[in-house]
Amino acid sequence: MATTTGNAETAEVTAETAGKDGVRRRDFIEIAAVSAAGVGGAVTLIPLLTQMAPSADVLAASTTELDISGLETGQAIKAVFREQPVFVRRLTPAEIEAADAVPLSELRDPAALSDITQVGHEDVLVVMGVCTHLGCVPLGAAEGENKGEYGGYFCPCHGSHYDTAARIRKGPAPTNLVVPEYQFTSDTTILIG
Ligand code: FES
Repeated sequence: MATTTGNAETAEVTAETAGKDGVRRRDFIEIAAVSAAGVGGAVTLIPLLTQMAPSADVLAASTTELDISGLETGQAIKAVFREQPVFVRRLTPAEIEAADAVPLSELRDPAALSDITQVGHEDVLVVMGVCTHLGCVPLGAAEGENKGEYGGYFCPCHGSHYDTAARIRKGPAPTNLVVPEYQFTSDTTILIG
C-alpha cells in the first residue's frame, strides 16, 4: 500500500504526488530539465551553424562552369564537379526519340527525358558520371566507348546499362545516373552546383 513519509524525496506515489495523468512531480522536473537542456542546445547551435555556413569564395570553388558552345550533336564531354566526373551530352534527335518512346512503366527508376533535362535545352543531358551501383565511372562519354545495350552509358564493373536519357535499364544499378543541380547562365554556358 502506498505510504507517505516526512521526506518528500522518499515519498512513494500518492494521490498528492501523482497527477491525473499519472505523471509524478519528479517526472515533471526531469522532463522540464531535459526540455531546458534542449532549448539551451538550440540556442548554442544557431551561432555554430552560422559560423559553419560556407563563404562566397568556398561556394564558388564548389561550382563548375562549362562552355558547351563547341559541343556538337551526338558528342559528350567529361568534366569534373566537386572532384567527381560529370557527363554532358548533346543528344541527337534519334536519341531523344528513343528516350521518349520508352513507357515510364518499363523503367526501374521512372523519369521522362523532359524531367531530366531543362526547358529549352531538352537536347542537353547533364548527369554525374558515377554508376549508382557501387560508384564506378561508366563508359560512353568518350568517342568509341561502349555505350551499352541502350545507347547511353555502360558500367563494365558489374554490367549496368543506362539508356540515352541516362536511365538505368539493365544490370544491378538501382537508379538512374544522378542529375546534379545546374543552370544555364547563357545559351552555351552551364553552371553546375
Ligand atoms: S559499379 Fe557500376 S555496375 Fe557495379
